[in-house]
Order: sequence, then structure tokens, then C-alpha cells
Amino acid sequence: LISEKVDALIKIMTLKEKIGQMNQYNGFWDVTGPVPNEGDAEEKYEHLKNGLVGSMLSVRGTKAVRAVQKIAVEESRLGIPLIIGFDVIHGYKTLSPIPLAEAASWDLEAIERSAQVAAAEASAAGINWTFAPMVDISRDPRWGRVMEGAGEDPFLGSKIAVARVRGFQGDDLSAVNTIAACAKHFAAYGFSEAGKEYNTVDIGNSTLHNIALPPFKATVDANVKTLMNAFNELDGVPATGNKYLLRDILKNKWGFKGFVISDWASIKELVVWGYAKDNKDAAKMAALAGSDMDMESHIYVFELEQLVKDGSIDEEIIDDAVSRILTVKFELGLFDDPYRYCDEIREKEVINSPEHLDAVLDMAKKSIVLLKNENHLLPLKKEGQNIALIGALANEKNSPLGSWRIASKDSTGVSVLEGMQNYKGNHLVYKKGTDVTIGSTQFINELNINNTDKSGFKDAIDAAKKADVVVMVLGEHGFQSGEARSRTDIDLPGVQQELLEEVYKVNKNIVLVLNNGRPLTINWADKHIPAILETWQLGTQAGNAVAQVLYGDYNPSGKLPMTFPRNVGQIPIYYNYKNTGRPISDTNNPNLVFWSHYSDVENTPLYPFGHGLSYTTFKYENLVLNKKTFDINESVHISVNVTNTGKVTGKEVVQLYIRDLVASTTRPVKELKEFELIELQAGETKTVNFVLNKASLGFYNNQGDFIIEPGEFEIFVGGSSYTSLDTRFELELF
Ligand code: IFM
Repeated sequence: LISEKVDALIKIMTLKEKIGQMNQYNGFWDVTGPVPNEGDAEEKYEHLKNGLVGSMLSVRGTKAVRAVQKIAVEESRLGIPLIIGFDVIHGYKTLSPIPLAEAASWDLEAIERSAQVAAAEASAAGINWTFAPMVDISRDPRWGRVMEGAGEDPFLGSKIAVARVRGFQGDDLSAVNTIAACAKHFAAYGFSEAGKEYNTVDIGNSTLHNIALPPFKATVDANVKTLMNAFNELDGVPATGNKYLLRDILKNKWGFKGFVISDWASIKELVVWGYAKDNKDAAKMAALAGSDMDMESHIYVFELEQLVKDGSIDEEIIDDAVSRILTVKFELGLFDDPYRYCDEIREKEVINSPEHLDAVLDMAKKSIVLLKNENHLLPLKKEGQNIALIGALANEKNSPLGSWRIASKDSTGVSVLEGMQNYKGNHLVYKKGTDVTIGSTQFINELNINNTDKSGFKDAIDAAKKADVVVMVLGEHGFQSGEARSRTDIDLPGVQQELLEEVYKVNKNIVLVLNNGRPLTINWADKHIPAILETWQLGTQAGNAVAQVLYGDYNPSGKLPMTFPRNVGQIPIYYNYKNTGRPISDTNNPNLVFWSHYSDVENTPLYPFGHGLSYTTFKYENLVLNKKTFDINESVHISVNVTNTGKVTGKEVVQLYIRDLVASTTRPVKELKEFELIELQAGETKTVNFVLNKASLGFYNNQGDFIIEPGEFEIFVGGSSYTSLDTRFELELF
């Protein structure tokens, strides 16, 4: 039994060695936080030899991993292997779409497969633990890290979080192609005030328990092996030192058996927050709260021993943390063979394999969302047209790879230009028009990043004049979203909006292909441009996926996982809002003033959560419940007929929302509770069945207890959160 092996090992460990297991150091490159001190490298090697390091992050490649593992295994007294962590966020070298894009597929199987591909490549490069999935729910597109999550909804977010954990961890953690997952950032990081990175979080209990925590709980139930602390504070207590979150909820209430890693230097930051008076105090608070491993604060390794000796921390706290860490190492099979993930032959065979390229292409196509398509401008004809392709992002091989792509090589993404060049029946002319950014490296000063050079406008406009159709690829560079990439202005960066308007003056047949890591404010484009395709940053195969959708070889089926606002002032805007005491009544009545609204913009978003079109159309009919009144313990059975009313085969995400009309705390006007992705031939009808039970009809009260209350519920079904059918039923206490 692993638990017996762990106990036996702990018995022979010194206090120092135990604390060593709780210490994680960065490798000497790939810095993903503040740059450590110059002198650190020597000290790190010394600590490795002395058994004072339990884990390293950002060491990659079989050669490098083998080298550090060899020191830990052969030179330290007990030879305990290291666990090697890395940010495998949307692939290792072969990149999938950014996570927000994948979420737009609502295709759980494809998302699980994408995580499997990432795990297979990372594990072949010596890595056995990824700092993913990020399961932070966010309602704020100003926050750069929305690219890394699954959007705004806790139900969809939970399903996707579990699919990713399954994909990374598989059924057998000791298999060479699976790795431990890490649900992050615990908790509520996505609610950073005003979308500003690393900022304070101030949300109420209802939002914490019903919106922020459910995806974490889902991953714990799915046996996720680790969780990572968040950088933010929550109600005055930084997450890294937050006993309520880590011990009371995660470890005691939810029964989490894995271990918690701090975020980069977040233990040290307890001092900066003004929550701990010095490093020693910070170590004490973090360890007592339940943070088991210290990432790059260099504090546990220096402070914990004395804290135990002077009685400030019970040694049981240390034993508990170490036991959790060692258990995961045993489960990974590292004690059987510390080099099992260091097979040079597998590394060469697995990374960038043709199967992986196929899998990420499939995922990329499924992630594309057709936002608008007037007069069937899309799909493009395959022959006999003059097409002008405009925009710097059309010829980009880096930007489509997106943020968080540390191991991938530069310029390995297929550009839209390359993808479209595979279709030879049309005459294609490419003009850049303008650049998006001044540079494109990860560490560029983002305040100077937008480009304002208009010298390419004339060529672009001339090309547009001669074209039958203009395809404009505009949006954000891949490094304009991601960690520490918050923005207050989410219009098209630089002079791209001007370019779009100038081109529109000479040719109105424009297909706007958006590249972005977050919802953008594209009000003008929505009013004027006939076709808009949301293509995010789609990874290695981006251009091929975009071209196949543009030319109709793939019928888009993605749906937005996050609301698109009309302007920044509407943020936070999300579909599951509360009714307020003064909701919208009659928007056409100009004499109505005193209701919840803005006087300069509609209440509605530009595109709602769940929105996405297809090259075909779907009709929803016959929403039927098996009864109208149910006992609180009964399941509610719902069916609906969906028909493909167009001319081509298409996929549709059938979405079911509820509203609990009266409850002991106010409930949202809509909550997603089920969905199903179906495929229909032209003219075909399918009946889709859903079952709602206690888990879907209950909610968390302000004490964090899950409750279900009798009363009337409304059900809505359709192809977006702006649903087409609705009905009601009653839950009773029989
Ligand atoms: O995993 C990341 C985390 O999301 C942000 N800070 C650094 C960590 C390790 O790179």
C-alpha cells in the first residue's frame, strides 16, 4: 500500500528532510515570476544534494530532467526523487488552442483528448506534473488570464475542468504518458478587482460558493492531485495564508487528499500584503493554513525548522504536508523508477507526432465561433474569386500560438495566409495594412506595444478595391493576453479599427476573422461588417483550421464561453446576473427612468454567453416535462426536439438553463444546468433528453452549505443563453 510506504519513509526522515520535500525551486531558465537572485543557482544545487528540494519547476527535456533527478536520487541521503512541474497550459510543443478557445467547443471529449496530447508530450520530456487546468471563473475580459480559463460559467467551467484533469491524469497516474494535474488558482483569482492583475478580490459568500468554488470542487471530486494557491486576497486574507479556504473547505469539508502548492513567491508576498510581519511569520501562516509546498519563496526551507522547534507549528502539520507530497510521487511511479519520464527515444517519437498535429487541428476547428454571417457571405466560394487577405495577424506564425507556450518553438504556428494558400481555386492577394504591436516577445513593455504605423494602409485599400471578398484578420497579438496582461481598453489594438473602417469604405464584402485571447469590444464591426468569425489563438494548426472553416470544409459549431460586452463600461457583464429590484420593464418607453440600466448603452451584451452560429440553422420545438409538480427528491425529465432546417450537416450545442424563482437568497435570472452537443443532417430532427436532480436544482447558501428549496422553477432551452423555449414546474416537499 502506498500509504504504508509513505509512513515508513516519513519515519526515517529528519525534520530538515521533511521540510525539503515542501520546497520547490525553479530551474535556471523559463522564469514565470519575478526573476530570482543571481546567487541562487549555487545554493539550489547545494540544497538538491542535501535532500532539501522536493520539486523543481520549468526544468524540461529528458537531458535536463535526468541531470537534476540524478543529483536528488544519487547524492541526497534518502534519494527521494523530485517531482518535476511545468506550465503545460495548452500543449507542450504541439499547441492546442488557448483554453478559452477550447471552452468554446463545449466538446468535452475533444478537450480531454487535447489534455491527453499535452500530457503525452510533456511526460515524454521528463515532466510529471502540469500547473493546469486553470479553473478560475471570470466575468472580466480586462483580466488577461481569461485566455487560460473556461470563461464565465461555473457549470460549463466544472465540466471542462474535469475533462482536462481526466485528460492529464488518465486512469493510471503511473503510466508514462500521464501527469499529475493542478487546479488553480485557489480561489477567486478571476474576480481581481477591475480586471487588474494580482489585485484584491472582494466578493460575497454567494458568489464565492456558487460561482468561484464549484469548478475546484469538481476537480477534487475527479481526484485532481494538486491545487495551487491564488495571488489574491479574499475578504482581507491572502489565499496562500487562508485557512478557511485551504483547511476548512478544501481539506476538511471536501476531503482533498492531494497537496497544495503556493504560487510563485506567494508565501513571501504575505509580508508584502501586510498580512505577515516577516518571512518567518509568513511561513507559519502559510503552513498552518494548509499550503504544503513553497514555490520560489525560499522561505519554508529556511524558516519551518525553527518554527517546529519553538512549538509554533506542530510537526504533524509538516508530516501531513510531506505525506501528501510523497503519495503523489509514489502514485506517479517515481519511486519505482525516477527516470521513467526520461526516455530519449520516446521524447523524439512522441513530440510533434502526426497524430498530435491531427488532434490539435481537430480541436482548433471545434473552437471557432461564427458570430455573424449576413447574406451567407461565408463559406467562401472555392473558385473564381478575387480575395484580398488583409491584416498583420494573417501572416503571423507566433501570435496564433497564444500566451503560455514556453516549450514551443517560435514561428511554428500555421498562419491564416498559409492555410488559405492551400485553396488554390481563387486569386489570393495578401497585404499587411498595419502591424498590431511594436514587438512580439513575451516580456515587451506592454504599455508601448500597440503599433500606430499607417504606411501600409494604401496598399491594403488598393487590394480591397479589386477584390470580390476581403478577409481581414485583426485582433490581439498572442502576448497581449495572459498573465500580467490586463487591459482597460479592449477595442482592436493599434490602428486596426481605422484600417477596418478605411477598407470598408471601398469594399463592404468583408469577413472579419478575429484573433484574441479575451472578448473584445467590436461594436462598430458588429454593426457594419457582414461576417465575423471568432478564431481566438488556435495553436500550432491555427491557419489550417481557419481556412477550412472559411471555405466550408468544416461547419463551425463553437459557442461563446464568455459574454462579449458592447463597451468596457458594461464590464462585468455576464448572463447569470441577478434580477435586481428594478429590472428592465419596457425599454421602448422613453418616460421610464428609475430602473437598473445605463443611460448611454443597452443592458444587453453585444454577443451573449452561449452564442454561436452555423452554416445551417436549427429549430427548437416541443419542450416537454414528464410532470408539472415534483417531490424535492425526484428527478425532472425534460425533452426537446431540435431540427436542422438548413441545407448542410451541422452541430449544435443544445443548452438548458433554469431559474429558481423565489429562494432564501436571490438566484440568477438564468443558470446553465445541462447541455448536449448533437450533430444533425440537413432536415433531420433529434429528441434531446435532459434530467435535472438535486445537484442541479439546489444552491449554496451564505454559510457555504448546499441546499434545495421547494418552489417554482423556470426552464429555458435553446442554442444560446438567449434561449428560444421555456416552461415552468414546481418542486414540493411531499
Ligand atoms: O503556474 C504559474 C501560475 O499560474 C502563475 N505564476 C507562476 C506559476 C508557475 O509558472
